[in-house]
Amino acid sequence: MRALMTKLEQATALDRTGDRLQRAVQATLRPQRVRDLLHGVFLGHPLHPAMVQVPVGAWISAAVVDLLPGQRRAATTLVALGTVSAVPAAVAGLNDWAELSRDQRRVGLVHAAANTVGLTLYAGSLVARLTGRHGVGRALAYLGLGAASAGAYLGGHLAYKQGAQVSQSVSELHRMGDGWRPVADLAGLPQRTLVTREVDDVSVILYRHGDEVTVMLERCPHQSGPLGEGEVQEIDGHACVVCPWHGSAFRLNGGEVVHGPSATDQQILPTRVVDGTLQTRLP
Ligand code: FES
Repeated sequence: MRALMTKLEQATALDRTGDRLQRAVQATLRPQRVRDLLHGVFLGHPLHPAMVQVPVGAWISAAVVDLLPGQRRAATTLVALGTVSAVPAAVAGLNDWAELSRDQRRVGLVHAAANTVGLTLYAGSLVARLTGRHGVGRALAYLGLGAASAGAYLGGHLAYKQGAQVSQSVSELHRMGDGWRPVADLAGLPQRTLVTREVDDVSVILYRHGDEVTVMLERCPHQSGPLGEGEVQEIDGHACVVCPWHGSAFRLNGGEVVHGPSATDQQILPTRVVDGTLQTRLP
């Protein structure tokens, strides 16, 4: 299975279809507010994995209820719930998928295809049940569960092996030692300008506003883009750093994400000034 997944990650034959679909998704899912909602910016976590709990839960429950006598109505209700709720979950997933790296998009494309097959089989199951053909409905539902399970396996690979929509920055903290570390001479720090520094080999950005200085991890939580090369923009009255790779924006006075594709906040580090030297440490 591992060799198969490696081949899938490297399957360049999928890129033409993937690139077309990516352009179509980016052209369709607008404006930015809608994309942010679907990414889960308001939650501080990706929305897609939370949304899929509903169809997965409903479909698995239907598979159990289908084994019990006299439960046709309950099974039909569960299949309907799963089928309807899978649609917005798929839209949120497509929105995340369109901002992934190429190797992730290849696996994501097959993940989406497997789930589309599953959803189609469940839709057929629902129609069969509503027209009184419960045996056919049951068979289609079990086939749908098989396809959705394959999709779930690919989704797990995408998240846990390839790190899609998982914060890429927070593991940087594991490379920092305990205790306060000197990071800059406060007097030499320019106002309202991003400055990049290293703390124990961990890259951070500094942003001075008056006597307040923000120290933030430099690696973007979305796909490790260099925030130190990003722009500072005023968004909703707050100074934010905008990632140069895909445009995620984070408040410089707290690290909260204000625009995706990142759904997670960026880590801010505590600061203090001792004898004119700015120091920082682990949170
Ligand atoms: S790396 Fe994608 S938004 Fe920063």
